[in-house]
Amino acid sequence: LDQPVQAPLSRIPAGIACLADYRLRAQYHVEAQAWAHMESGADQGLTLAHNRAAFDGIRLRPQPLADLSQASIRQTLLGQLLEWPVMLAPVAYQRLAHPEGELASVRAAMAMHTGMMASTLSSHTLEDIAQAASSASQELGRTAPLWFQLYSQPDPAHTLELIERAERAGYQALVWTIDASIKRSSYPLPAGVEAANLRNMPQHRQSGDLMSEHILFGTPLAAQAPSWKDLQWLRQQTRLPLIVKGILSPDAARKAADLGADAVVVSNHGGRVLDGAVAPIEVLPELRTALGPQFPLLLDSGVRLGTDVFKALALGANAVLVGRPQLHALAVAGMLGVAHMLHLLRAELELSMAQMGCATLEQITPDHLHLTLSK
Ligand code: FNR
Repeated sequence: LDQPVQAPLSRIPAGIACLADYRLRAQYHVEAQAWAHMESGADQGLTLAHNRAAFDGIRLRPQPLADLSQASIRQTLLGQLLEWPVMLAPVAYQRLAHPEGELASVRAAMAMHTGMMASTLSSHTLEDIAQAASSASQELGRTAPLWFQLYSQPDPAHTLELIERAERAGYQALVWTIDASIKRSSYPLPAGVEAANLRNMPQHRQSGDLMSEHILFGTPLAAQAPSWKDLQWLRQQTRLPLIVKGILSPDAARKAADLGADAVVVSNHGGRVLDGAVAPIEVLPELRTALGPQFPLLLDSGVRLGTDVFKALALGANAVLVGRPQLHALAVAGMLGVAHMLHLLRAELELSMAQMGCATLEQITPDHLHLTLSK
C-alpha cells in the first residue's frame, strides 16, 4: 500500500464484525515488509490457501430444537480450566504489529479468559509477559492458562535455561514446536524489535543464508534440527505438561504420546513452512483415532470463524489456536483490538453452537458435519 503507516488506534473502530475485517484494516497499520512477513506462506502459498479451503469444504448440518438453557463451553484441559476452547497461538515478534506487543496480547487474553502461548521469539521477555498476565489477572479477577512455547536452542544449556526461566516465571505448560527449525525465509527485523528472551544466546545461522548457498545437509543447521531424542531429553527436564506442536501424521502423534508428550498441536505452522503440506483439519480425524478419545489434541492453521472452531471440535480437537488474527487485531487497536477479536470469535462460536443444536462441547460430534469429497 502506497501510503504512510497509520498509528494504532486506542479504540475499536466502527464496522468491524469479524476477524477478516481486522485483517483488511490491519494493512493500513503495518509497514509493508512486516506485513509481507506476517501474512506470507511458504513458497507458492499453496498450503496457506489450502488451510482455508479445507475448512470451507466442510458443511454443517444443524440439529434443531436443542435445549440451550444450561449451555456451557468450559472444559478442563491438562488440569487447567479453559473457559472456552480457543487459545492464542505462539506468534513471534509482536512488536512488529504494536509497540506493546505481547504485553497487550496477554492482557487481552486474560480479559477474555483465553489461554496464551508466549513464543520463544517474543519481543518482550517471558518474565515481562508473565508479569503482565499476573497483573491483568489480579485486576480483572480472572485467570487463563499461560504456556511457554519453546524452540530448542543450538546449545542444550540454553534450552534448559529457557525451560527454567519459564518455570520460575509461572508458566503452566511447555509447547515444544518441532516444525520450523528449517525453513527458507529469514526476515531482517527492524530496529527496536528483537528476540528479547535470547539476548546473549548465540543463534542458529539463518536458514535463509544457507538456502542461498543451496546447502543444508552436512551443516550445523541440519545437525541441530530437533529429533525424537530431544523429546526424550525434554521430558526428563521438566515436570510441566509438555505439548508437541507441529504434528500432522498419526504415527508421529502416537510416538510423541509414547515418549511422554501430554498433548499434541496438529499444525502446519499456518502454511509457513512446507508448501504442499496437508491441512490440519483434514488429518485431524486420523490423529484422534490414533490417540484415542481422551488424549488432549489442539489444532491451528486457518481458524478464522466460529464455525471453523466448531468444525475442528467436531472432528476431534479439544481446542484451537489462532495465529495471524492476533497480529491483525494488535496492529489496529492493541490490547482492545485483540480482546475484541477474541470476543467476536467467541460470540460466533456460541452462535454456531446454538444454531447447530449443541449446548456443550461434548455434544459437538462429526454427525453435525457433511464432508464433501475432496477434489
Ligand atoms: C507464527 N507461528 C509460530 N509458532 C511457534 O511455535 N513459534 C513462533 O514463534 C511462531 N511465530 C509465528 C510468527 C508469525 C508471524 C506467524 C504468522 C506464525 C505459528 C503459529 O503459532 C500458528 O501455528 C499459526 O499462525 C496458525 O495459523 P494461522 O492462525 O495464522 O492461520
